[in-house]
Amino acid sequence: MKYINKKLTIEKVSFQKIAKIYNTPAYCYSYNKLKENIKNFKKNFKSISPLICFAVKSNTNIKIIREIKKFGLGADVVSMGELMIALKAGIKSNKIVFSGVGKTSEEIKYAIDKKIFLINAESVSEVKKIERIAKSKKKKIKIGIRLNPNTDAKTLNQISTGKKENKFGVNDKVFFELVKYCKNSNNVDLKCLSVHIGSQILDHKPYQKMLKVINKIIKKSNYNFEFIDLGGGMGISYENNKKKLDYKKYCLAIKKFLKIHKSKIIFEPGRSIVGNIGFLISKIIYIKDSGKKNFVILDAAMNDFMRPALYGALHRTLPSLKNNKILKKTHEFVGPICESTDRFISFKNFQEIKENDLIVICDVGAYGMSLSSNYNVRPKPIELLIKGSKINVIKKRQKYKDLI
Ligand code: LLP
Repeated sequence: MKYINKKLTIEKVSFQKIAKIYNTPAYCYSYNKLKENIKNFKKNFKSISPLICFAVKSNTNIKIIREIKKFGLGADVVSMGELMIALKAGIKSNKIVFSGVGKTSEEIKYAIDKKIFLINAESVSEVKKIERIAKSKKKKIKIGIRLNPNTDAKTLNQISTGKKENKFGVNDKVFFELVKYCKNSNNVDLKCLSVHIGSQILDHKPYQKMLKVINKIIKKSNYNFEFIDLGGGMGISYENNKKKLDYKKYCLAIKKFLKIHKSKIIFEPGRSIVGNIGFLISKIIYIKDSGKKNFVILDAAMNDFMRPALYGALHRTLPSLKNNKILKKTHEFVGPICESTDRFISFKNFQEIKENDLIVICDVGAYGMSLSSNYNVRPKPIELLIKGSKINVIKKRQKYKDLI
């Protein structure tokens, strides 16, 4: 994504052109960036040859998942719907892991029938439920147990998952009990220890800490785990020149760990694969001068893109046509929804803009469309995949008749 002749461009197409053909708001994804991210991810962990299971929750567009599948990735799913999408996208069931604290009997039955690779259980009751269902089907099912390592991921509180006050996983005491329990079970086969301490992690140290905790626990449990699922969480830079995760150091820590434990590593990355491939184009409906600041009211809103309203997340927001004329006044970019949290970002000054101009919100490929809703009976945006100068519609804009 860069300015060419003052026009902001994704691959070889300007956002102006895209908006003219497909209207706004529109999600656009760069195919080449997706490819580059997957290649980089693989390269960063080449020395440990992990199984990489894309976290479907970050982007549930089936065409995107189909592209990801072509690079050999599996899937990490957290619901029956996600599992169905992953299978429909062509991901082999032996590369699918099922995570989540609240899997229902229906979901577990479906996962077993589809012969998925691994169910990562998160409680005693869940292990027993999987066991009961497996018994009724006269099967022995491969499971993992998610450990809560009580490790601070040093990320936003709302997206932290590895501390003891979080609902995820089981503590060490329960973990040991479950290992013992599984050893004597005819219907569950304990293959994996899984963890996921949080999302948007930019510091390798929490990962190092987490590995130390797992190391201790495995030694104490005296059990040979064929797989260690380290989850996802690798952060991306949402702002220019911001800190980056040191993959070398993370990988080195894993290699050290693997010298002691001969297991295969599983990763469940979402954001690091799709975060920076996505852009949301939006049109300015009105500019309202309210004295000290201008409210720039866009046709995209918190229902289309929720991260700023939900986490106070900041996303680069750029004019699609650059003019280098700066207006020294605060500009607050907001959506039309009847909520004060329906705001994207505020700038002390911005370039001169007018109604009907286009604005591009960047890095919305992860937890963008997948977190969107129909709040205020607003149809969901169209999704487009850009490959060079080709634009493919990968999901149509919702119509009012879909909603009413
Ligand atoms: N594995 C498990 C078990 C997870 O819960 C998650 C994310 C992932 C993998 C993928 O994590 P990633 O590599 O994408 O960080 N909506 C929030 C993020 C929530 C993440 C939930 N779990 C956001 O927009 O920042």
